[in-house]
Amino acid sequence: MRLSRYFLPVLKENPAEAQIVSHRLMLRAGMIKQQQAGIYSWLPMGFKVLKRIEQIVHEEQIRAGHIPLLMPTLQPADLWRESGRYDDYGEEMLRIRDRHGRDMLYGPTNEEMITDIFRAHVESYKQLPLTLYHVQWKFRDEVRPRFGVMRGREFYMKDGYTFDLTREDALHAYNRHLVSYLRTYERMGLQAIPMRADGGPIGGDYTHEFLVLAETGESEVFYDSEVTDLTFGDREIDYDDRAQCQGVLEEFTSRYARTDETHDEALFNAIPEERRRVARGIEVGQIFYFGTKYSEAMGATVNTPDGKKVPVEMGSHGIGVSRLVGALIEANHDDKGIIWPEGVTPFHCGIVNLKQGDAACDSACEALYAALSAKGLEPLYDDREERAGAKFATMDLIGLPWRITVGPRGLANNLVELTSRRTGESEEMSAEAAVARIVEIYASV
Ligand SMILES: Nc1ncnc2c1ncn2[C@@H]1O[C@H](COP(=O)(O)OP(=O)(O)OP(=O)(O)O)[C@@H](O)[C@H]1O
Ligand SMILES: [Mg+2]
Repeated sequence: MRLSRYFLPVLKENPAEAQIVSHRLMLRAGMIKQQQAGIYSWLPMGFKVLKRIEQIVHEEQIRAGHIPLLMPTLQPADLWRESGRYDDYGEEMLRIRDRHGRDMLYGPTNEEMITDIFRAHVESYKQLPLTLYHVQWKFRDEVRPRFGVMRGREFYMKDGYTFDLTREDALHAYNRHLVSYLRTYERMGLQAIPMRADGGPIGGDYTHEFLVLAETGESEVFYDSEVTDLTFGDREIDYDDRAQCQGVLEEFTSRYARTDETHDEALFNAIPEERRRVARGIEVGQIFYFGTKYSEAMGATVNTPDGKKVPVEMGSHGIGVSRLVGALIEANHDDKGIIWPEGVTPFHCGIVNLKQGDAACDSACEALYAALSAKGLEPLYDDREERAGAKFATMDLIGLPWRITVGPRGLANNLVELTSRRTGESEEMSAEAAVARIVEIYASV
């Protein structure tokens, strides 16, 4: 992409309405535009990041054996009357009536609809285990939408639903989700810590929230500092191996890590004092095993091997895809702007031409652009007639992890400059070496 032909409406001034840095930077970098409280248009660069995140989510879900489908945003109220949640959900549910007077709603989540799909098409235990998921817009009429896309009213979520014959199988599905989520967040360059969460009215231990530590997080969190040393890394995982998945769950959840909802002072104080941490976090996902709550209410049963009919065991598992864009920026920025991790960056590399219109500089930039594109990478070439300072400021604001700078002085010696956005360090090298370095960096992402 050439910046002169792109749509990147960067703001010069700090938007007054933004209280936290991610919201401010998303507006300034031209990623989103608010259309109503908590409802945003995703402008081209914001949309690109959203799609990159969604892509990682899909890849990791499919790797875990989970199957994508797509359910509609609008749902019939009658399904929610069956589960009893039509009345329970309260003001957060956006209720709509069509021209025939039928009650509908904009889905805040999809347990009812997926259970309806299941009961229509699955009869036998032989069709289990089954995990179906989608990435779809949700609507929750939050009392206080704020912090930009972090707490929107319309937001993009991955929600997956597991169906199993036995509780034991359902807990394996839970563990599989925990592992796949660890991989997902790590690929984005994020540390998200599984913390024991509150099961709400359903109760039980089988729910964890994934939290990204950030001062602006809405949840207060308490944890043993050892949890931040854990990484999943590039270890091999066999998602059918129950012991291995259970082992990962134990490794990542045995140390104390809880949000204020489940915090237990006595347990926390049993940790050596120097390891006790109280901080804030952003909830970027949650996994939940709830058994037969919906299958019983909605008659979703399966035939067992010995000819009985039992309600299917279920769980639901969510990732806040649009919230993650904000959370990533909260965790990766400096006073000049965003610093995208390589896994989610909207463009792989920026190209800055210090002397637009100079024949040598222009052709060197074009050659870089072509060479990077030929390697399957997406460069963003700042080909505007702007001062160098303005070009650098834009690149720093939008946060591409790598920048190649081309100027007449360097070119005289066949050199360009490769700069890391994160460290600010620059290195001179030939254009070919710069391309090779960028290719190498992304090959391992
Ligand atoms: N209003 C929202 N705006 C953006 N993302 C959201 C919003 N509500 C929930 N999410 C994201 O969707 C994920 C799964 O939804 P879940 O039902 O667990 O949300 P939740 O627990 O109600 O969230 P919260 O406690 O933040 O209101 C959450 O972990 C979060 O990342
Ligand atoms: Mg939650």
